Amino acid sequence: MDKIIVTGGRRLQGEAAVSGSKNAALPILIASLLTDEPCTFEGIPELVDIKTALKLLKGLGVKVEEEKPGSVTLQARGVDKLEASYELVKTMRASFLVLGPLVARFGEARVSTPGGCAIGARPVNLHIKGLAEMGAEIDLVHGYVQAKAKKLKGAKIYLDAPSVGTTENLMMAAALAEGTTVIENAAQESEIQDLAAVLNKMGAGVAGAGTGTIHIEGARKLGGVAHRVIPDRIEAGSLMVAGAATGGDVLVRDMRPDHLDAFILKLREAGVELSVESDRVHVKGDGIKSVDIATLPYPGFPTDLQAQMMVLMSVADGVSVMTENIFENRFMHALELIRMGADIRLEGNRAVVKGVASLSGAPVMATDLRASMSLILAGLVAKGETEISRVYHLDRGYERVEKKLGALGAEIKRVRA
Ligand code: EPZ
Repeated sequence: MDKIIVTGGRRLQGEAAVSGSKNAALPILIASLLTDEPCTFEGIPELVDIKTALKLLKGLGVKVEEEKPGSVTLQARGVDKLEASYELVKTMRASFLVLGPLVARFGEARVSTPGGCAIGARPVNLHIKGLAEMGAEIDLVHGYVQAKAKKLKGAKIYLDAPSVGTTENLMMAAALAEGTTVIENAAQESEIQDLAAVLNKMGAGVAGAGTGTIHIEGARKLGGVAHRVIPDRIEAGSLMVAGAATGGDVLVRDMRPDHLDAFILKLREAGVELSVESDRVHVKGDGIKSVDIATLPYPGFPTDLQAQMMVLMSVADGVSVMTENIFENRFMHALELIRMGADIRLEGNRAVVKGVASLSGAPVMATDLRASMSLILAGLVAKGETEISRVYHLDRGYERVEKKLGALGAEIKRVRA
């Protein structure tokens, strides 16, 4: 297993370009299952999770062509398998998103349930309930969800929580259902809006994506599409924290600041100097103050930036109360940060972070994707060397991260196993 070694204390300086969004790309690649025509997507990041998604689609019989880096054409004409195995779904939960499109187009599907995960229980009950409301007959057999429906029917669905994955699964299913589906209390994330743009280009009628109520007019048949995915807002936010936490001067470009409003406002509140243009943010960090943070569904502060923000709060002036409202076990990084000298007290879903003058490098272990990034950030601000193991988590979601940080002047290297 590879390790990443960071020697801290360097002030980051320069420019970093943001890659395409992993969490937008995954459902968008899967949406190709809705048509037999070719779908070309650009801005697809080179990541382990993307490879897993392409492997899943190939396994179903989708023709996958990767013409050049970042560009992929998918054609789901020869789909001859309607199953996603436990092996794939357990390595990447987003695989569960094939359920809606497969049932909608082929009338049946068999998809493994994902099981628990490092950051929380993450059930799929809302996905299942929504599809059942659209007329799918659903059975749970040997850990697999088996769904059948001659033709899904539009329905009015209320989500008990604004789940991102559920909204995506149901939007894709509704795009080929008969009639109109209305999703109430839908997720509003930027990635949902990007999926809606793709479905509309394919011929569905999606309105209201980005609000809590989404209307989807189903089409009898959907067509091919060409689309570039949005930039990764979580990678952008992570790079901004890298600039701020090291007292640096960093321009994060090729991003969408309007997808990060809550985060940008919190950074400003913490005293980070930010100059924001339509596709870039210039970050200067100096004299960071503690601020309280509560993660919330979009447009609230993203849970996927909580771990990174905790590093900034660890070296801020004052005490910050960080509340995690989305996942019940998303503080594993705190225990590693404490080993690096952070003063953090965990109380249920709250972390009380008292800023310290400096962190000190240590061997630490990554437990999930965003936790891995927080440990790299901690390594950048710490005195001495931080050795991060289990970086395979990082490779699931950050494209060429050590190169991007290295170009900003970070002393960071990967040690191959
Ligand atoms: C997406 O996961 C993202 N993944 C996550 O990013 C992100 O943290 C999360 O949304 C929240 O923003 C992808 O987009 C691939 P949810 P998802 O369904 O869709 C509960 C990363 O680091 N829930 O919105 O799985 C669930 O347990 C990852 O890139 C149910 O109770 O998240 C959680 O508490 C990690 N029943 C809450 O809703 C359900 O059926 C939000 O989950 C579904 C969800």
